[in-house]
Amino acid sequence: MAKTRSAYFCQSCGFESAKWLGKCPSCQQWNTLVEEVIEKANIAVPNWKATSSTTQRSNKPSAIRDILFTQENRLITPDKEFNRVLGGGIVGGSIILIGGEPGIGKSTLMLQLALNLPGLKVLYVSGEESEQQIKMRAERLGNNPASECFILTETSTQNIFKQVEILHPDILVIDSIQTLYSAHIESTPGSVSQVRECTAELLRFAKESGTPVFLIGHITKDGMIAGPKILEHMVDTVLQFEGDRHHVYRILRAVKNRFGSASELGIYEMQGCGLREVSNPSEILLSQRDEPLSGITISAMLEGLRPMLIEIQALVSVSAYGTPQRSATGFDTKRMNMLLAVLEKRCGFRLSTQDVFLNIAGGLRVEDPAIDLAVIVSIISSHENMPVGLKVCFAAEVGLSGEIRAVNRVEQRIAEAEKLGFEQIFISRYNQKGLDLSRYKIEIKTVTKVEEVFNALFG
Ligand code: TYD
Ligand code: MG
Repeated sequence: MAKTRSAYFCQSCGFESAKWLGKCPSCQQWNTLVEEVIEKANIAVPNWKATSSTTQRSNKPSAIRDILFTQENRLITPDKEFNRVLGGGIVGGSIILIGGEPGIGKSTLMLQLALNLPGLKVLYVSGEESEQQIKMRAERLGNNPASECFILTETSTQNIFKQVEILHPDILVIDSIQTLYSAHIESTPGSVSQVRECTAELLRFAKESGTPVFLIGHITKDGMIAGPKILEHMVDTVLQFEGDRHHVYRILRAVKNRFGSASELGIYEMQGCGLREVSNPSEILLSQRDEPLSGITISAMLEGLRPMLIEIQALVSVSAYGTPQRSATGFDTKRMNMLLAVLEKRCGFRLSTQDVFLNIAGGLRVEDPAIDLAVIVSIISSHENMPVGLKVCFAAEVGLSGEIRAVNRVEQRIAEAEKLGFEQIFISRYNQKGLDLSRYKIEIKTVTKVEEVFNALFG
């Protein structure tokens, strides 16, 4: 009988080991190594152009000045948010991984895209749903009669490539990479070595044929794309589809992008008939209030290159237990603790006996440090029970000594705040240089210390 080769793979990071280990030396997780058969002897099935991996073409070095520069041809989709996240459309031959929790709308997003690309042949390969189920969803999305979308329910990569050679699609969608298997490897679909092999085959196909390939990927409980980390290294672009399943808003975020900025973001609203693009996010991120409430502030933040205004809510209350609770949704808890320490040490607020809860409205996760000032003000506003005016917003970082630091692209933030009818914005005085304050209708308050802000707001 032909001999098979097996190895142990860490299910969390993809680390390979010849023998079993209790703890993965790469990611330090316990009990994650699982034996997988990685090679079957005597393979009779053809690979994607089987020769390509064995016959090595040797390349010669060329001087960079002699290499012809050709603008990569991008396919502009009708979905503007999607184009933005990809950095201006789909690049030919690129391989794009879309990760997200189950039920968040990955299949919907991809099917909607496939149905709205008139004149382009799209092959949607599903290993998860039947043709009937996909047809039902397509009906729900308003089946576009002009679309040339083909559905294939198949999980073997060799069979998929066979169909691809017959159909010659312009775009290939795989739903999902964890359901595929390659006959070259014996382990079960979804295992580290299968996911890796299938991705490698699809990668070769994408690069050789110039066809863009979309891979839908599941994510694990802790929010990582299931399968080895190297999956993320192999593909050109990683998009994360996220949001609260119980809310209607979904965010498509570029985590890695070889062809554009990795900080771009698209916002969608899940409706009964599919996903709708949200082109003016501030509209949805600000709640409609008639009177000012304590603990609520607005920050002019930037996601990618897009300015938007978001609402920050804080609740400070006396702790019932010895150890006060600190919890932040959508904001880094460590950073919140740092800001609390600044308030305690530099401004003399007694917060160490208080529970502090912080929430960023709309289910957004914010990393822009420019919301620091708004976070601090909302905490103090709740602590002192003094509301901040409805037409006031903030855009500044706070340093460890309580100094107000400059942020990037302040003009854009001011312009967005002005556009949305705000009357006052607090920024750092260090941002004032080169800024023509008289150009704006909105009142711009420049400050250098946290105390100045409190004095101006709460007297
Ligand atoms: P789905 O695309 O199947 O999620 P995933 O592929 O990420 O697992 O999305 C399923 C959810 O979306 C389901 O809860 C129903 C909802 N949905 C709508 O609200 N409107 C729609 O038009 C469609 C197609 C789905
Ligand atoms: Mg799905």
